[in-house]
Amino acid sequence: MLTDSRMPKSHSDIGLIGLAVMGQNLALNIADHGFQISVFNRTTEKTDKFVAENPNTPGGVVGTRTLEEFVQSLSRPRKAIILVQAGKATDAVIDGLVPLFEKDDIIIDGGNALWTDTIRREKALKEKGLRFIGSGVSGGEEGARFGPSLMPGCDPAAWKEIKPIWEAVAAKVDAKTGKPIPGAKPGQPVKGGVPCTTYIGENGAGHYVKMVHNGIEYGDMQMICEAYALMQGLLGLKPAEMGEIFSEWNRGTLDSFLIEITADILKQKDPVTKRKAFVDVVLDTAGQKGTGKWTSVNALDMGVPAPTIAESVFARCISAIKEERVAASKILKGPAKKYRGSKKALVEAIRDALYCSKICSYAQGFQLMRTAQKDYGWELNFGEIAQIWRGGCIIRAAFLQKITEAYARNPNLANLLLDPYFNKTVRKAQENWRKVVSLAAECGVAAPTFSSALAYYDSYRSARLPANLLQAQRDYFGAHTYERVDQPRGKFFHIDWPEPTRPQIPA
Ligand code: 2AM
Repeated sequence: MLTDSRMPKSHSDIGLIGLAVMGQNLALNIADHGFQISVFNRTTEKTDKFVAENPNTPGGVVGTRTLEEFVQSLSRPRKAIILVQAGKATDAVIDGLVPLFEKDDIIIDGGNALWTDTIRREKALKEKGLRFIGSGVSGGEEGARFGPSLMPGCDPAAWKEIKPIWEAVAAKVDAKTGKPIPGAKPGQPVKGGVPCTTYIGENGAGHYVKMVHNGIEYGDMQMICEAYALMQGLLGLKPAEMGEIFSEWNRGTLDSFLIEITADILKQKDPVTKRKAFVDVVLDTAGQKGTGKWTSVNALDMGVPAPTIAESVFARCISAIKEERVAASKILKGPAKKYRGSKKALVEAIRDALYCSKICSYAQGFQLMRTAQKDYGWELNFGEIAQIWRGGCIIRAAFLQKITEAYARNPNLANLLLDPYFNKTVRKAQENWRKVVSLAAECGVAAPTFSSALAYYDSYRSARLPANLLQAQRDYFGAHTYERVDQPRGKFFHIDWPEPTRPQIPA
């Protein structure tokens, strides 16, 4: 066994398998908080190097070279975090642990697992007498090291076992304001504050909530990109100037990690040419790992409208077909219209459009969780979910406190838009939002999330949609029946429509 120089406890408090960057950082975060952690990696050299590089953590890192040695090093009930690539690798590691683990031992999957995989794994392991926790870990590498947001899904008794560790290592926010408490330095954990972790629900609930978090993150990022595209396309602003605008926005209601880093990015010079703005040398094709797609697919599966989140995924898809777009740009022409109004007014309008679109995107994300909890029998606490996203997460934002407050006012809120604060905010800002979406259309700047969010808002607030005509069409060609406005719901009618005209086949 490879240990640090101090005398270790006979058994570690917890173990971690998978020493890629996320795994290493989470292990160090745990050790920083005084817990002794055993680590194991398929490739032993990585374990050796990691232990050698981190000899003096407060809790201690214990390196192990075989899975047997790893398991034997853990105190009972054993707790092992798996941080390997989601999918087959997770199953492979679980399969390796199962014969070595004993009754009530706990396997924790900290990867970005599909929540249905987590439900399947939890069920299979329960049958073997083992406990399984699917915990969303948000905040990327920095979060893992200095305080992530942690979203555990499992049975409540299993949560009790990991709660002290989870609460210790999670990011912390101020109890009153909900503001993140600045990150700790290595070896100096944050003291006080509310930890950004809470029990989410049974089995796949944690990974489901993490997935929706990522879908929302896709939306936030794309909306910021549209604000940038509009300032560039309609006002011709330069990146550094936009950087200043984002910095200013970061001091108001849009105060968030993503706005802050956008300001930094826009002010950054290209390290190669030294003259150009960095964003101007970055190729305009965005990658994706799949959680935004999962969120959108799930929205379609459940029949829950989440168009803004889906548009943000499609925006990445269209960005990826660069060569095709370059070719199309030479053939397809847009409008000649230019914006000639006030710069200050338009910048303000874009900020309002961004904020209103963001409210709609979050409303959609929370609608997804609301529907899923009914399907899976979870009891999600939406106010707490917003609270634990206040720190550690990529989507951490002042705005989330407003969501926590909205659910505190009404835990059964049907849609975030109906909360008095959000209702009032959108009512006040909608003129600007509409102006921006119209200008985008008139001047030919693509703003898919801004416009889809507005369409969502206008659809959601419509007592009557044109689906009457749609249903009539369905009744016409497929005898799908229709309900009447003057009859109770659930009574179906049909009209014997004339045979549709069919093309004449020449004799
Ligand atoms: P490695 O260093 O041996 O490649 C992220 O890929 C992490 O997951 C790495 O630590 C990697 O180990 C580990 N990993 C990937 N596939 C694995 C598997 N099938 N079994 C165990 N660990 C795996």
